[in-house]
Amino acid sequence: MNLSFADRKYVWHPFTQMQEWSNSNKPVIIRGDGFYLIDEHGKKFLDGIASMWCNVWGHGNNEISKAMIKQIQTIQHSTLFGLANAPSSELSEMLIRLAKGMSYVFYSDNGSTAIEVAMKMALQYWKNRGEKRKTKFISMENGYHGDTMGAMSLGYLPKYFAPYLPLLRRAIKIPSPVCRSGYSDCQDYENLCLEKTEVILANNSSHCCALVMESGAQIAGGVSIFPRNYQNKVGELCRKYDVLLILDEIATGFGRLGNMLEYLEQKSYPDIVCLGKALTGGYSPLAVTLTTNSIFNAFLGKPTEYKQLFHGHTFTGHPIGCAAAIANIQMYKKYELLRNIRQNSVYITHRLREIQHSPIAENIRSKGLLGGIDLSKAKRPILKLGNGIPITSYIAEESLSMGVFLRSLGNTIVIIPPLAIRKRELKFLLDTIVSLVNKIEKFA
Ligand SMILES: Cc1ncc(COP(=O)(O)O)c(C=O)c1O
Repeated sequence: MNLSFADRKYVWHPFTQMQEWSNSNKPVIIRGDGFYLIDEHGKKFLDGIASMWCNVWGHGNNEISKAMIKQIQTIQHSTLFGLANAPSSELSEMLIRLAKGMSYVFYSDNGSTAIEVAMKMALQYWKNRGEKRKTKFISMENGYHGDTMGAMSLGYLPKYFAPYLPLLRRAIKIPSPVCRSGYSDCQDYENLCLEKTEVILANNSSHCCALVMESGAQIAGGVSIFPRNYQNKVGELCRKYDVLLILDEIATGFGRLGNMLEYLEQKSYPDIVCLGKALTGGYSPLAVTLTTNSIFNAFLGKPTEYKQLFHGHTFTGHPIGCAAAIANIQMYKKYELLRNIRQNSVYITHRLREIQHSPIAENIRSKGLLGGIDLSKAKRPILKLGNGIPITSYIAEESLSMGVFLRSLGNTIVIIPPLAIRKRELKFLLDTIVSLVNKIEKFA
């Protein structure tokens, strides 16, 4: 396929300053081959960010694409409004078997809408039970839950979302327990965060329906890995003060942190869990909101009581997405993916030691196939290089020139490869990251 620069100029890109973009000449991806993306000139780039953190098996022809083709030839879409469809039924059964404690699956198309569904469920749960005052939400500092209205209300980041503030109803914030350099005793800091969380819950439980937090780690908020079992303790407080716990596993579920479902590993008992991203191996836009019997039962009644959940999209429970997710989950077992992830996780930790003495690499952390390195100089984040180039632009351009597609989060380099990445490609990714840190050290 031959594309000219003009062909792509009508696309408005997400989270992108289009003035800068229009003057750049970023590749147009034409096809994928394993863990590589291939542009219009045949140039290969390692997919270093798993196509926005969702890709599992790489790109191209495999069992997932075959299952999707088979589904498209059987029936491409049939609505869940008033009918059931086979793939969404089969997938829900698989998910309920995996997600202990959960009993029902509500389908949506992306992570943000899975969060909207969770918020509506929580709000209406209390209303259906006659508790009309419990209408506000609590969420964690630096949390990110998506870009739709409810999701922005929970994960309000002024830098991005200030123009939309009039549309939002901001959540009450609890502190994030992540102890960065500067705190001498992390256990003390964690206890302090928990105490503050309890005070907030005690003061607000009468008018709060749910507390929402990411499960295991925050990624968009700066790659912050939670202390083990922290969310379990938050969950206990939620139960004590009668506030529902919603866990967002959209980015961390399905193996990212080395466990199929992080909430199970952390022994936390949410009322609602959201999954997306890797659910279909990154092959189809599909997300789910799972909940318990007890929440579901509060929505039962006669149609005229209007207790039903008034939510649904044209493509809710889309058969092709569900077929992709079924094939994906079967592949996890067949190829022992979690074992592979855990082995590669050890390799990442080992390789990151190479930069532990770099004067610009701070807070080097990793868990599963997620890692973060903060770039700072004299305790200040490096946002621009000496020549004035923003660090994010430098990392994007320089990594592309080395054959890897990377996208940093401000001054944080994120390690987030496709989950089934092979050692060879993981080595290439880490070689590139180590080399980037060394180059930035010279220019910062
Ligand atoms: C934790 C978390 N929740 C929700 C979302 C939103 O998902 P989506 O981009 O599919 O709407 C994201 C996206 O990065 C995320 O990381």
